[in-house]
Amino acid sequence: MGRDSGLGIGDWQKPGFAETTSEGGAVGHPQSPIPNPDGQAVKTYLHLHESKPLLRFITCGSVDDGKSTLIGRLLYDSKRLFDDQLAALRSDSRRHGTQGENIDYALLLDGLAAEREQGITIDVAYRYFDTDQRKFIVADCPGHEQYTRNMATGASTADAAVVLVDARKGLMTQTRRHSYIVSLLGIGHVVLAVNKMDLVDFNQKLFEDIVTGYRALAAQLGIAHVQCIPLSALEGDNLSARSTRTPWYDGPALLEHLESITLDDAQSQAGLRLPVQYVNRPHQNFRGFAGTIAAGEVRPGDPVVVLPSGRRSTVAQVLGVDGAIDRARAGQAVTLTLAEEVDISRGDVIAAAGDPPEVADQFAAHVLWMDDAALLPGRPYWLKLGARTVSASVSEIKHRVDVNTQEPLAAKRLQLNEVGVCNLALDEPIAFAPYAENRALGGFILIDRQSNATVGAGTLDFALRRAGNVHWQHLDVDKAARARIKGQTPRVLWFTGLSGAGKSAIANLVEKRLHALGHHTFILDGDNVRHGLNRDLGFTDEDRVENIRRVAEVARLMADAGLIVLVSFISPFRAERQMARERFAPGEFIEVFVDTPLAIAEARDVKGLYAKARAGRIPNFTGIDSPYERPEAPELHLQGGSDSAEVLAAQVLEYLEQA
Ligand code: ADX
Repeated sequence: MGRDSGLGIGDWQKPGFAETTSEGGAVGHPQSPIPNPDGQAVKTYLHLHESKPLLRFITCGSVDDGKSTLIGRLLYDSKRLFDDQLAALRSDSRRHGTQGENIDYALLLDGLAAEREQGITIDVAYRYFDTDQRKFIVADCPGHEQYTRNMATGASTADAAVVLVDARKGLMTQTRRHSYIVSLLGIGHVVLAVNKMDLVDFNQKLFEDIVTGYRALAAQLGIAHVQCIPLSALEGDNLSARSTRTPWYDGPALLEHLESITLDDAQSQAGLRLPVQYVNRPHQNFRGFAGTIAAGEVRPGDPVVVLPSGRRSTVAQVLGVDGAIDRARAGQAVTLTLAEEVDISRGDVIAAAGDPPEVADQFAAHVLWMDDAALLPGRPYWLKLGARTVSASVSEIKHRVDVNTQEPLAAKRLQLNEVGVCNLALDEPIAFAPYAENRALGGFILIDRQSNATVGAGTLDFALRRAGNVHWQHLDVDKAARARIKGQTPRVLWFTGLSGAGKSAIANLVEKRLHALGHHTFILDGDNVRHGLNRDLGFTDEDRVENIRRVAEVARLMADAGLIVLVSFISPFRAERQMARERFAPGEFIEVFVDTPLAIAEARDVKGLYAKARAGRIPNFTGIDSPYERPEAPELHLQGGSDSAEVLAAQVLEYLEQA
């Protein structure tokens, strides 16, 4: 990834890009033709073009609201298409189009052939166009129900959003959801485009009813600026020019309005914040720190502090694309060199020494979940904020938010497309700003640690005060001292496998033998711990995650006490076994997979639980209607179906002797 602003998942700010589309191919590249291809004229044009302000906006709406037609028409009307593109568009219209002999503007947009066939747009597509007044980058966000993720991707750094509704249908669930995400991601300007007015005879009353409904929603969401426009994308009414067919409407046409939106420059008021994207070290004598300034400005000589380390230095040089400059501000990509050598790595933030951002590791945050598998509190994910990636988990879901009514609802997990207000705990502190103050320093994404897929996006609301008030206490008697007095090396033998696999029986034999040899041991067994410490937990996925999190923490305390700990839990999920492993020193954690086939465990059915589970009397039973994820690389792989507990216990002891 390595994007540098907002949630970091958009493609807006790739240096030097003019137009990108969804993966896999694209049609129409509406680049600006240069009017007069000779020396001075070109320079003047390019300069004019350079200095034109940029507006980034997204479009969102339901599948049939006419979004692609609207953008296609904007591109067409901006007259920035080349002749060959026009010819292609005409022939495509005849072949694939839905508009008879007329041009199907939507074909300019639906880049992928597969999409055309399905009739839906499936990824965010970015397009570039310009008018005499302004440059635009538009992210076309698909409106299909399950693609909220793409919507958030496109919205993460947009200045404005065009929310489309079909005049015949009015406000839909999608309209509410998209508007909520727009407000969540801090987009201050919304255009409600009431499309297909031609199909309702440009009915004023109908338009006004939709507007009334939407203004109420926008007020509830705290969206600052709303402009409602009646239009027909297909026929061009109120799109680039005002329509004569809506004499009762005295507002601007869409393009006119987009040209006139003024953006406040609040972020440059704060002190310098430069998230370091790359450390540039071409040779021994040069060390530069490159990134896009997220807030404030910087000049040579400015005192700075590097976060989270807190080391101080002074700016030596500010380098832009063409070399040294005497000042740079928010939004600019720069490389800084510092007067005094300090250790800085990718993901650190260089900030104004007199006005640094906060550093914390626990937050209140909004999280938008985008994965089919639910977000489970306690499960570690990668959190990526700017260029920084740290391990993080949701420590608590306070509530989820009904995206239609904004009502808080109780939740133990977050499902696809749900938004939750959560507490987040990071493994390391980060420099940040609340999202409302700075999108680059407050927007994050969550990444699945197994698949590396982006599974969530969110906004940091504020740091939890307890984060700053809870410190590590230094203790003089440490783990090594405690282990030494016991004459042993602390270990954690983590037995995993199905219920009835034989974990407890093997662990019991191993402990007996270790005890006889004079070792200090302890067994943590699922059945027993669930009667005490974990008596509040059941067998849902989220409860199992918490079950393992607590047991891993207890095992760590016991290893710190110098003990050899035997943990015997089904621990069915890879993510949590990995989390447990990461709590221990290299070599200390020994994963023992008791691999007993389900059929054999079920046939043994020592506790009679499989029979009950099959009869439907125990829900979420591992192996029956709850998954068991087999270890991929356990230290020990025991054949629980064929060998006796004695034989398997001997294998564990042999491993311990050699380790
Ligand atoms: S874990 O999945 O969260 O690691 P744990 O090892 O603590 O499970 O508890 C498993 C034990 O609880 C099983 O050996 C069995 O005796 C009992 N049990 C009761 N209900 C279930 C269930 N739905 N799934 C699995 N085990 C269950």
